[in-house]
Amino acid sequence: MIALNSKVQVVDHPVVQHLLTKLRDYQTQSPDFRRYSITLSQYLVYEASRQMTVRELGVETPVGQAKGSSLTDYVILAPVLRAGLVMAEAAQKMLPAARIYHVGLKRDEETLEAVSYYAKLPDSLPPDSRIIVLDPMLATGGSAASAIELFAKLNVGTIQLVSFVAAPEGIKRVHSQFPDVHITVGSVDSNLNEKGYIVPGLGDAGDRIFGT
Ligand code: PRP
Ligand code: URA
Repeated sequence: MIALNSKVQVVDHPVVQHLLTKLRDYQTQSPDFRRYSITLSQYLVYEASRQMTVRELGVETPVGQAKGSSLTDYVILAPVLRAGLVMAEAAQKMLPAARIYHVGLKRDEETLEAVSYYAKLPDSLPPDSRIIVLDPMLATGGSAASAIELFAKLNVGTIQLVSFVAAPEGIKRVHSQFPDVHITVGSVDSNLNEKGYIVPGLGDAGDRIFGT
């Protein structure tokens, strides 16, 4: 694992890098892209979950007493539609008690600003909430920042972001607005092109996942 700074973690695990390479390959077709995306999400969310808090406790095994621990966070998964859906599917398998709040955002391809089309959040959340925003591509950072803002307004808990690939511009944007958000990624790529795509990136994640 490489820590770019205390708030950005790049998962350099060989399996993660293998899966990411499969996703980057323009020849990878949707069914495989989706399958690799789900597996990659599991690894990334697993690494992100190192941030979670635990309570120490004792446990009785069939042959004695052991020291143990139990997860204490009230976990909320916040997939950014559409592409974040595959990440939520993977994350929920690992964290079955997690609540899921979907965030519908569409990037305006002219202005590159995120436009909200769905957000149904409660008025309040428990103070020990841990919100894990799931968005495969952190490009300009507009979508991730809008999703984070929805939860930040509720003034609770801890917010994390998990992405497959980030551009330096996206990380900068998120951290300029929300310096405490911990970001877990498979790679920080070179830059954005004139259309706001991550270079080299993996193309349009939503289109490749859903075959559109
Ligand atoms: C893509 C991607 C991110 C967003 C990243 O979504 O899935 O949500 O762009 O770009 P940004 O960091 O510049 O905001 P898109 O708007 O294409 O929607 P989709 O997932 O429905 O295809
Ligand atoms: N959205 C994507 O799906 N890919 C990019 O490279 C940028 C935004």
